Amino acid sequence: MITSGGQAGITALWALRSPCPLACEYCYFGSLEEHRENPVTAPGALSHLSHDDLPSGDVLAFARTIAGSAVQRVFLAGGEPLVWPPILSLIEILRRGGVEVVVCTNGIPLNRPEITRSLVELEVDAVSVSLDSLDARYHDTWRPSRNGKDGWQQVVDGIRTLVTTRGSATAPRVGIYMVLTRSNLTSLAATGRFAADLGCDYFVPQPVSLDADHRLHSELTLVEGDLPALGQQFTALANARLPLWTPAVDYPGRIAAAVRTSVGSVRDCFGGQRLFFVQPDGSVWDCPSSLRIAATPPSRHRTIRGNTAAEVFTADDSCADCALFSVDCVNMWPLMDFDRVLSTTAGLCRDRA
Ligand SMILES: C[S@@+](CC[C@H](N)C(=O)[O-])C[C@H]1O[C@@H](n2cnc3c(N)ncnc32)[C@H](O)[C@@H]1O
Repeated sequence: MITSGGQAGITALWALRSPCPLACEYCYFGSLEEHRENPVTAPGALSHLSHDDLPSGDVLAFARTIAGSAVQRVFLAGGEPLVWPPILSLIEILRRGGVEVVVCTNGIPLNRPEITRSLVELEVDAVSVSLDSLDARYHDTWRPSRNGKDGWQQVVDGIRTLVTTRGSATAPRVGIYMVLTRSNLTSLAATGRFAADLGCDYFVPQPVSLDADHRLHSELTLVEGDLPALGQQFTALANARLPLWTPAVDYPGRIAAAVRTSVGSVRDCFGGQRLFFVQPDGSVWDCPSSLRIAATPPSRHRTIRGNTAAEVFTADDSCADCALFSVDCVNMWPLMDFDRVLSTTAGLCRDRA
């Protein structure tokens, strides 16, 4: 049995929009091509097809209700949030409302000076950039761009641009999220070192989560036999004492627990208490776990459309002790530990040394 711990205010993970210029092979949102053939219709199923995405007016109207609610922090993801035209207006509304904002991006839009400058000027709290390896070929194999031009180099350039634009300011913190698979596991510690060399403030390896019938499940999903190598990599990462934040010491154990048993239990889970998930169509779920979404009774289906944050982010005490812990959930612990990420001074001190 795992316990959740973590911060007090509400955290919303908001998948703002469906489209993305990348076609990551393992993406939670599935493949555009497959979904064109067989559109997904189940409640909570994610897709890069944007037929049901909320109009920007509805998104911005809801954002205005977040100020003054119990929401402390919003993670903006997608699809790719930084190529959505009203993104800066949305961030401005949230920041003016006193809400902390973390942008989760593929990193490529950070090469656009107006975007990077605005993220600094709006004092976005953190920018999490997805980079799967220090090996460009690995990254570009699994995260190919639809235009065939952008890739690892542009992501790295984007991180450098943001770190340089931030200069001596304290915000945004800049971090790398690495999707951990059977194929890049042994480069975990080296990728952490690379993140530190780039001037990042945090580094989060997150295990890939794929349905058992996904075509890449057996190739990418971590298995018990990978756990010794995983342990060695986390030990090497810790021993390197890099000047950046990495997940808490119990994080590798959580990954191992999810690898060993496909479904477990969590006592007093933050999902549906302090963590909520919003989909591009405006649906609100108690957490991003696909198992938990599938188990949500119709009476608890709700939407941000026409509603306020106080109305939709309401705690459901009945599932505080959750029996649906899976690899889908593991990534939520670093997310809910973000107080520590935002208070780290490791990278900032180094920048000024
Ligand atoms: C869906 S993306 C959206 C935000 C943005 N476009 C990006 O690339 O970071 C959010 C995060 O989920 C990760 N991700 C996508 N599919 C995943 C999967 N099946 N398992 C684990 N992480 C996944 C991505 O690498 C990224 O770090």
